[in-house]
Amino acid sequence: MSKLSDPKPADRPVPRPGVMDIAPYVPGRSKATGGAKVYKLSSNETPLGPSPAAIAAYQGVAAKLEIYPDGSAAELRAAIADVFGVNAARVICGNGSDDVLAMISHVFLGPGDEAIYSKHGFNVYPILIQAAGATPVVAPEKELTTYVDGILELVNEKTKVVFIANPNNPTGTYLPFSEIRRLHAGLPPRVLLVLDAAYSEYVRRNDYESGIELAGTAPNVIMTRTFSKIYGLAGIRLGWGYGPAEVIEALNRIRGPFNVSAPAMAAGIAALRDRSHIDAAIAHNEEWLPRVTEAIRSLGLEVTQSVGNFVLIHFPDEKGRRAKDADEYLVSQGIILRVMTSYHLPNALRMTIGSAEANEATIAALRDFMHRTAR
Ligand SMILES: Cc1ncc(COP(=O)(O)O)c(C=O)c1O
Repeated sequence: MSKLSDPKPADRPVPRPGVMDIAPYVPGRSKATGGAKVYKLSSNETPLGPSPAAIAAYQGVAAKLEIYPDGSAAELRAAIADVFGVNAARVICGNGSDDVLAMISHVFLGPGDEAIYSKHGFNVYPILIQAAGATPVVAPEKELTTYVDGILELVNEKTKVVFIANPNNPTGTYLPFSEIRRLHAGLPPRVLLVLDAAYSEYVRRNDYESGIELAGTAPNVIMTRTFSKIYGLAGIRLGWGYGPAEVIEALNRIRGPFNVSAPAMAAGIAALRDRSHIDAAIAHNEEWLPRVTEAIRSLGLEVTQSVGNFVLIHFPDEKGRRAKDADEYLVSQGIILRVMTSYHLPNALRMTIGSAEANEATIAALRDFMHRTAR
């Protein structure tokens, strides 16, 4: 029986406090307004597509779709363990690495907790932190790069998780592993350090490490990886995490029982084994990342030095020449880059390294844009 003083009950289901304060994730656009051909360079997808072996493996499962997948993803974890030299028991697979990141948030964060991420860090982190009822804390960056001291200064007794993408999306910058170690050394052991290495395969730097060793030895580090980028399997949604046994065990308690589909696992295993396809994707990026960077710089535009499969292009702060104007022009030419407003970079666009044809078309369109708008 309700008392007269009780607040009026809601007349419809009401989300938990905080849920409606979450800014929805804005995915890369996929449609253009013009252009005979459309070049989608907005979501860091590979121009090489998946390995033919992965496609064949995916199709091979088509006749058995009535069967539930193996909920423990044993075969996929064994393949990951084999290829990366890690312990399969400490690997967890997810419906994209987003799924693993979400499990981390739900297990380690709740109301009253704080989680730190970098100012221009991957946009999914604040969504997941808020979804768990915790408070996102934004660390400053230096030269569009994750700033270790800026993060350490924000750590307090409420801090439970630190999310770092290395290399970072959308800036393309990275931290040498000595800096990651320094960050880890400065964190209290109760804080979980999440190393999101979604773009690690593209990095060609001697001082870079994805985090396998640290996640294999430290009790408070987990590394996440994805099949969406260099493996070209974004559509099937597949990712994984590697970390301390206790952390993985806790994640497994809340994991959806069949969170990875059978076709995704089959394709993932085949993709892992096709080294020549991965090498071709690395070679393509090694050729085109510097070419695209230099070509766009030669137009008078600033391009942040990237180690990933994308570049961040900064536009002049002048009427008619801003990122918004460039985006409008590019879309009218069938070229789709990523608008960066939600990343606090309103005057920049992010361009994925695409096929030779897509890259050339984008450079030509940007040249055109700069000439048309020159005074
Ligand atoms: C830094 C970073 N982490 C994670 C992801 C998510 O990848 P997935 O497709 O595996 O969920 C992305 C995708 O853009 C990303 O840029």
